[in-house]
Amino acid sequence: MPTNPMDPFTVLIDLENGTMPDNTNYLKRNASDMRGHYANNEAMENLISDNGDPLHYEVFETPVPEDVGQLMYCLSRLQPGKVGDEFFMTKGHYHTVEATAEIYLCLKGQGYMLMKTADGKCAAEEMSRGRMVYVPPFWAHRSVNTSKDEPLISFCVYPANAGHNYGDIEQEGFPKRIFERDGRVVIE
Ligand code: PA5
Ligand code: NI
Repeated sequence: MPTNPMDPFTVLIDLENGTMPDNTNYLKRNASDMRGHYANNEAMENLISDNGDPLHYEVFETPVPEDVGQLMYCLSRLQPGKVGDEFFMTKGHYHTVEATAEIYLCLKGQGYMLMKTADGKCAAEEMSRGRMVYVPPFWAHRSVNTSKDEPLISFCVYPANAGHNYGDIEQEGFPKRIFERDGRVVIE
């Protein structure tokens, strides 16, 4: 018998605007929080000084206990834009409990989920409205918005005890980046 059963609940998700209005956790990252993640550091400094340190992405959560068996979920809203030629992206992370997967359902926008493993595999899966990306256990993941003018909005679900490991990605980066070259999206 469970010792501490939770009561069921619902959460409203604004599918049109990509927000979770009743969120109790709100995370916001501006360009200056993303220093060191893009190929062109000078372009990043120019973006911060000339464009008022623009918003990169927001994450809305109404958390549950971080216990085995629980599912954490969030809504992520990544702005369109570029640092030099490189499209705006999230920091990216492995899960601290590495053997934990994640599901991303894209609700709006256009982009890619860039993924990598510690032993050198790399993958980029398309994100567009209605497309679900399955991030398997052990794969680091970062989303990239390739739209010119629309936020990339997705709903994600993962084991609540997974945790986020950002340090390894800060050190290693990803083997591939996503750029705009001559008006085309290029993964290289
Ligand atoms: O757990 C996830 O993968 C998401 O909730 C992300 O945390 C979210 O998309 C923001 O990205 P990051 O954690 O890489 O800054
Ligand atoms: Ni994750």
